[in-house]
Amino acid sequence: MKRLENKVVLITGAGKGIGRAAAGLFAAEGAKIVIAELSRELGEQAEKDILAEGGTVRFVPTDVTDEDSVRNAVAQTVALYGRLDVLYNNAGLSTSRDGPVTECSTEEFWNTLRLNLFGTWLCCRHGIPEIIKAGGGAVVNMASIAGLMGMLRIDAYTAAKGGVIALTRSMATEFAPHKVRVNAIAPTTTLTERVIALNKNRDLGNKTRNLLGPCDPLDIAQAALYLASDESRRVTGHILPVDSGLTSS
Ligand SMILES: NC(=O)c1ccc[n+]([C@@H]2O[C@H](COP(=O)([O-])OP(=O)(O)OC[C@H]3O[C@@H](n4cnc5c(N)ncnc54)[C@H](O)[C@@H]3O)[C@@H](O)[C@H]2O)c1
Repeated sequence: MKRLENKVVLITGAGKGIGRAAAGLFAAEGAKIVIAELSRELGEQAEKDILAEGGTVRFVPTDVTDEDSVRNAVAQTVALYGRLDVLYNNAGLSTSRDGPVTECSTEEFWNTLRLNLFGTWLCCRHGIPEIIKAGGGAVVNMASIAGLMGMLRIDAYTAAKGGVIALTRSMATEFAPHKVRVNAIAPTTTLTERVIALNKNRDLGNKTRNLLGPCDPLDIAQAALYLASDESRRVTGHILPVDSGLTSS
């Protein structure tokens, strides 16, 4: 039996990077996937590629910061597959416009919170009631080590991911009686195209911080697979660092 056999999974921001890796992995493990992605081009390409690999997948154009769009993505998922078992709130990012609180623009602060924290909150607002209707399931949120420890020059992003971590714990407590598990992953540097471009002048292999080297998108997708599957059925309210030892060093 595959690890997500017949589970219906909505993954946000799955057109590229970690979300795309998770969509491919989850489909290979038997899940029926909705790719809720902002970019039509990326979403359509991901859908095409996963279909070609034999997966069950549909791209639904989605902006996680827009409530009508999120409501539509959840409704389309249920219309297509009849239920929702797993919500993977992957969409998010930091930009080079972030910085110390004294330097970052207020516009960048709100954009960062809107995408990373409000987007997660909105998807939970509309997704969790459907998971409850399905008899329970899992929410996997995307935090970051930036939400667990102080980091330089990304004060808006650290605040947003810290919020995702707190929200994960409170929702885990709130919805456990409904058999909805809520966990988050806190990755260290993960070599997606965006992160490689952002850090082109830095040594991402610096072993004094990432003891085992930087992550690949699949390293994070594997952790998400565990938290999405019934293998983690007694695990809720946890923040799982996939951090190459960074937070312990
Ligand atoms: N890559 C890292 O080093 C790293 C480290 C820690 C945490 N994370 C977190 O992991 C998640 C994925 O990161 P990534 O590096 O794979 O990002 P990425 O930039 O490679 O991919 C993000 C995807 O989200 C989509 N997206 C952007 N805004 C959206 C919106 N409003 N609605 C729907 N989709 C939207 C993009 O089009 C893109 O396909 C993010 O939450 C990020 O904060 C990444």
